[in-house]
Amino acid sequence: MDLLEYIEKIPKAELHLHIEGTLQPELLLKLAKRNNVSLPYSSIQKIKDAYQFQNLQDFLDIYYAGANVLRTEQDFFDLTWDYLEDAHRQHIIHVEIFFDPQTHTERGIPFSVIISGIHKAMERAKKNLGINSQLILSFLRHLPEESAFKTWEEAKQYKHLFVGIGLDSSELGNPPKKFKNIFAEAKKDGMKLVAHAGEEGPASYVREAIDVLNIDRIDHGNKCLDDENLVTEIIKKGLALTICPLSNIVLKNTPCMEEHPILKMLEKGLKVTVNSDDPAYFGGNLVKNFEAMATNLPLTKNHVYQLTKNAFEASFIDESLKEQYL
Ligand code: HPA
Ligand code: ZN
Repeated sequence: MDLLEYIEKIPKAELHLHIEGTLQPELLLKLAKRNNVSLPYSSIQKIKDAYQFQNLQDFLDIYYAGANVLRTEQDFFDLTWDYLEDAHRQHIIHVEIFFDPQTHTERGIPFSVIISGIHKAMERAKKNLGINSQLILSFLRHLPEESAFKTWEEAKQYKHLFVGIGLDSSELGNPPKKFKNIFAEAKKDGMKLVAHAGEEGPASYVREAIDVLNIDRIDHGNKCLDDENLVTEIIKKGLALTICPLSNIVLKNTPCMEEHPILKMLEKGLKVTVNSDDPAYFGGNLVKNFEAMATNLPLTKNHVYQLTKNAFEASFIDESLKEQYL
């Protein structure tokens, strides 16, 4: 079996995936029409042409504008189902999905509509496709902590439907410590904790996410490489990093795939995993991320095996059930 076939066939887990970032141009146009939302694009090609980003904020502006077509439970169902079908085609058997409720509640969509649509698609995928999926509620860090608390008060009645909380959106100027209290509160409620850190922000944000927020896993974390002591601490603690190679290139956090540090991180002993982040915007799904690594880096089957094993080990699958995946 050659490397590309191995990548495709090996049963995989994905741990860093924003459901709003799976909105493909075809569904974007379809939902805009269905909900009478006007878009600045008239064709799939024009949408694809608009996806040129200089940095994270450029992308986020387009991502939030796209999310505006999501209005009904059916829309959230269709979005999630499309992703899960694609995940099935890629032999992903476990996925942890971020959703950004504030992106929708801020424009008047009830929390219940969002979570029901997503959850029903997850249930169907479990039954019909055999995919295990879990939800992580992600707070928007450009909003104040009070907004996260308000969201949490509403979300708590559905907490049996998600495993953890996360932190995403504009990183620079919004350090992890801004969300110290809500993370402590969610931990008391039994939530797993993750946060985007060190994507665009400095190594000190990664340290803060570990020391102040007490996270169980780091999303991105690439910038930890600027601080050798921090790398040593992350390895010692066994904290995993959810690396998103194509995202890093498209958002210009890494100059090109040939220079991506993921294999160096693996060799240092960091528990790194491969993920697609926002596949509709960053040039492809999880398999495409592995393929881009295969084309541009000295990737071997052993690397693919290790990266995949890391993802199952770093997942929030119940410890008693993990063995069946490893
Ligand atoms: N970074 C930060 N926030 C996000 C991202 C990302 O890649 N995708 C969706 N929200
Ligand atoms: Zn992300």
